Amino acid sequence: MQSLSKGPIGVFDSGYGGLTVLRDLVATLPENDFCYLGDSARAPYGNRSFATVYQYTLQCVEWFFKQGCPLVILACNTASAKALRTIQQNDLPKIAPHNRVLGVIRPTAEVIGQYTKKGKVGVLATQGTVTSESYPLEIAKFFPTLSVFQEACPMWVPLIENNEYLSEGADYFVKKHVEAILKKEKGIDVLLLACTHYPLLRPIIEKHLPQGVRLISQGEIVAASLADYLKRHPEISDRCTRRGELKFFTTDSAPDFDAHAAQFFGAPVRAYTVNLAGTVI
Ligand code: DGL
Repeated sequence: MQSLSKGPIGVFDSGYGGLTVLRDLVATLPENDFCYLGDSARAPYGNRSFATVYQYTLQCVEWFFKQGCPLVILACNTASAKALRTIQQNDLPKIAPHNRVLGVIRPTAEVIGQYTKKGKVGVLATQGTVTSESYPLEIAKFFPTLSVFQEACPMWVPLIENNEYLSEGADYFVKKHVEAILKKEKGIDVLLLACTHYPLLRPIIEKHLPQGVRLISQGEIVAASLADYLKRHPEISDRCTRRGELKFFTTDSAPDFDAHAAQFFGAPVRAYTVNLAGTVI
């Protein structure tokens, strides 16, 4: 039998957002190698159809497998909502039955109930994630009595991707959606940033939050869940290389990626441009 590939853990997002998750993955699993791909050329994914998000995400997952990654984390809620299940159920058995692809929605749903005292959670996300109903459905599996209220924030990712997230315009759109979700139900005491881009808006969101409402981002939750997964799955963990190496790739301009990525990752980044046929430019 051909031996199974060994390699870094793949971390995927439509653009920069997944870097907010990668940051926590590296802090939690510093010995592991990680390979990040941002599909910046086609970001944002948030308003795209199911079919398009699925097609783009699958192409990226196949690219990770060509790099030898045994495990890929979709550090993108939109891709997790619209593509993960189909990839896990239909594609993986055919293209790489021994590899795994995991998302960020389930690990978040598994613990979100622990943060609320009043049992009322607000989910701020892209239009795609909201329309998919993935959060209400997943949260109900773990916390059936919890009430979940959603608000799509379609302008937030474009503002962040275009480096306008500290502008007055961003403040207007943040206030608008924070107020809108809190109006949906009295007593929401947890707001989940269910898009991996949104942690960059945290200081502005906090400015518009009344006291007693807690803001939760996903990085630490996903990192703890991955560490636990690797303990429970030695057959995958043993194939994840551990030299503490990080590699960054983008489907668009590498200098542009580097210029913005540091704000998300918290440290300088040197990326390479890749086309999805696998050629590093
Ligand atoms: N970071 C992605 C998410 O978590 C952003 C989606 C987008 O590209 O619009 O949903």
